[in-house]
Amino acid sequence: MIQLIRGFKDILPGEVELWQAIEKIARALLEDFGFKEIRIPIMERTELFARSIGEDTDIVEKEMYTFPDRKGDLITLRPEATASVVRAYLQHRLYAPDPVQKYYTIGPMFRRERPQKGRYRQFYQINAEVLGVASPLIDVQLIFILVALCAKLAITDINAHINSLGCPDCRPRYREALTGFLASIAAELCADCRRRRVRNPLRVLDCKVPSCREAMGEAPSIIDSLCDECQRDFETVQAALQDLKIPFRVDKRLVRGLDYYARTTFEIQTGSLGAQSAVAGGGRYDGLVKLLGGPDLPGTGFAIGFDRLTEIAGLNAADLLPKPKVFIAALGERSRALAFKWNCRLGLQGLRVEMDLGDKSLKSQMKRADRLGAGYVLIVGDKELEDGTALLRNMQSKAQVAIPIEGIVAKVKEVVTAANSRP
Ligand code: HAM
Repeated sequence: MIQLIRGFKDILPGEVELWQAIEKIARALLEDFGFKEIRIPIMERTELFARSIGEDTDIVEKEMYTFPDRKGDLITLRPEATASVVRAYLQHRLYAPDPVQKYYTIGPMFRRERPQKGRYRQFYQINAEVLGVASPLIDVQLIFILVALCAKLAITDINAHINSLGCPDCRPRYREALTGFLASIAAELCADCRRRRVRNPLRVLDCKVPSCREAMGEAPSIIDSLCDECQRDFETVQAALQDLKIPFRVDKRLVRGLDYYARTTFEIQTGSLGAQSAVAGGGRYDGLVKLLGGPDLPGTGFAIGFDRLTEIAGLNAADLLPKPKVFIAALGERSRALAFKWNCRLGLQGLRVEMDLGDKSLKSQMKRADRLGAGYVLIVGDKELEDGTALLRNMQSKAQVAIPIEGIVAKVKEVVTAANSRP
């Protein structure tokens, strides 16, 4: 039997209802905050990601699914969405009528990481991107939305971590100080970090290898090197978070795995996911629009790990499973032919209807209705046909009423809808 590719997964009925419920809540929340949906392709030219995320990042160096298409152009399955959203913003000149745009997009991303709980090679993200807003208050609003979403999903074990990565004015100074420090502890670093030390020293800060973490204990902090403007922004962010009563932690090691960030970065972390603690991550990427050939406009945003959300959401998937409102149990060929028409028409009326098209006994049909959790069973057989009625049984109260076959669709709809609208 042919099996799934490692790190990929199926989301089966029974699980998918939770995904749908979360998506619905997330969409409504983002739309309430003025975000509009944008849909972007799953593949882009490799160059887009290499330039935006950075050549020396783990994602670009070793995690992208990149291959030449039949003409030899290098294309990549998107490892993230920000680069594509910015590309679309530029390509369609979406900034021309108004540079301030807020977009959200939901879909699969691909990274060839080592699979484990909470980490997949095809995973899903809910992304929000704000273009054209320089105020650090928008970063606070993004964190506020993330915290609110977690609350709506009954996720309690979360912490907001924030950091500032400085700007092109102050970061080089920090980089120099850090590089000097890293040279002094080079012998204690893992092989990856010894390489990173020269090519991308900031990345050493978030290495998870215990010996590196220990060696980095005394590393200089970027927050001590911020220029006045970055410092002021970072203070604004902290004051506004306090004002909104959002608990947060300043995490000097939060450098994120993508090179486009500047100034405020943040993550929502949880203790409920084992090694994969980040439920969502984001930050400001002010230089990216320009880097990709556009005007000098600021940007900021976040991506939520959708898979991880489903793993920690406090919603109960079983409660979300759609249950048929009506199950039609027909006995005999004539009844079945008639019931089949009712099935089609009731379905069109928006009632969730199920029926058994085979030749099963009433007992076995009732059993199936029960298993599916049907609210009502509409029973029709030769006797009912003769009487010109069918029986509608309320599966909860067990009460049964006879309904005339003439005008049955409207009547069933009326009874079921009235019952559903009762508090
Ligand atoms: P990221 O931190 O690389 O940021 O990913 C965001 C979230 O996606 C992570 O916090 C995690 O929950 C989830 N995630 C990442 N990799 C995996 C994986 N292999 N399996 C399951 N979940 C995963 C970005 O992607 C940025 N584009 C976020 C952003 C948007 N920054 C500004 N705008």
